[in-house]
Amino acid sequence: MPGIGRVRIESKVQILMETKLAIETTGLVKVFGSTRAVDGLDLAVPLGGVYGVLGPNGAGKTTAIRMLATLLPLDGGSATVLGHDVATEADAVRSKVSLTGQFASLDEDLTGTENLLLLGRLFGYSRAAARSRSEQLLSAFGLEEVGKRQVKNYSGGMRRRLDIAASIIVTPEMIFLDEPTTGLDPRSRNQVWEIVRALVAGGTTVLLTTQYLDEADQLADRVAVIDHGKVIAEGTTGELKSSVGSGALHVRVADIDTRSAAAVLLREVLEVPITEEPDPAALSARIDDPTRVSRALPALNDAGIAVSTFALGQPSLDEVFLSLTGRPTEEHAS
Ligand SMILES: Nc1ncnc2c1ncn2[C@@H]1O[C@H](COP(=O)(O)OP(=O)(O)OP(=O)(O)O)[C@@H](O)[C@H]1O
Ligand SMILES: [Mg+2]
Repeated sequence: MPGIGRVRIESKVQILMETKLAIETTGLVKVFGSTRAVDGLDLAVPLGGVYGVLGPNGAGKTTAIRMLATLLPLDGGSATVLGHDVATEADAVRSKVSLTGQFASLDEDLTGTENLLLLGRLFGYSRAAARSRSEQLLSAFGLEEVGKRQVKNYSGGMRRRLDIAASIIVTPEMIFLDEPTTGLDPRSRNQVWEIVRALVAGGTTVLLTTQYLDEADQLADRVAVIDHGKVIAEGTTGELKSSVGSGALHVRVADIDTRSAAAVLLREVLEVPITEEPDPAALSARIDDPTRVSRALPALNDAGIAVSTFALGQPSLDEVFLSLTGRPTEEHAS
């Protein structure tokens, strides 16, 4: 019977469409007084993996996340999280999503262990189960030694890790991490990255906001760049970077008296403008053709100019942003 066959195909397509996206927003709006913090945001976040939301201070990242986590009402548009409408099915969203980051709160006067035990009990674990989950998380996050210390005496990195531990007492289907590594030293940043990878391996979908392209690069499968509450670019980090050339060359000369000569030489070899950095030994340049870079170091050597740093880095978020908007990110800070 052809009719039945068609119905079946249609319902299969529908199931696929419904299950593929972890988050879908259409024209999301949030207004604070005269500020349109989120201004027509369209997002399609696939299920599984890490989706990055990149943007400078004040872009609207936290506001968008708070709406998706049902902590703020929508002023316009619509959003579904794991198939549930955030406006009409808030309870269903809350039961599936965990939020941590800029607004997550731990009790400062309690120890790390006490915070986790309390949360475990709140989620309905027995005393014994709460204790065992708390021990498991403290150990997984490298916090066993400070479990008995009050949270107010934690370092930034320990705090951030405890924050994430607290939000995954019950393994969530989806977690929102709002700038989980801002202000952390490189080692703590790496630890948080490992945690995020472990979450993904366990099947959790992660929505991560960050101001750093390199962080998105390390973790995210796809990213949306947002500015003034709107998506201004979407794709893989590779696609974003290739939109601004290959990267940036950073050079430091061993003797600051040789910097001018090095700048002249590099301009000749690279055929791009050379920037003298505030550091009196440092020079930098935007690179479009990496093959020229390989000629620059021998040229400096031949001229007898010793360098202490010669590094080709990725474009920063600022450079991506500058290329997308024609303005540096600082101008967007509010
Ligand atoms: N409760 C509020 N009342 C008034 N204005 C707000 C409120 N929350 C956010 N804003 C404004 O909305 C805009 C977006 O802020 P939001 O915190 O979402 O940005 P963000 O991308 O998270 O920035 P950051 O990287 O600094 O965390 C900013 O202009 C901010 O000042
Ligand atoms: Mg924020």
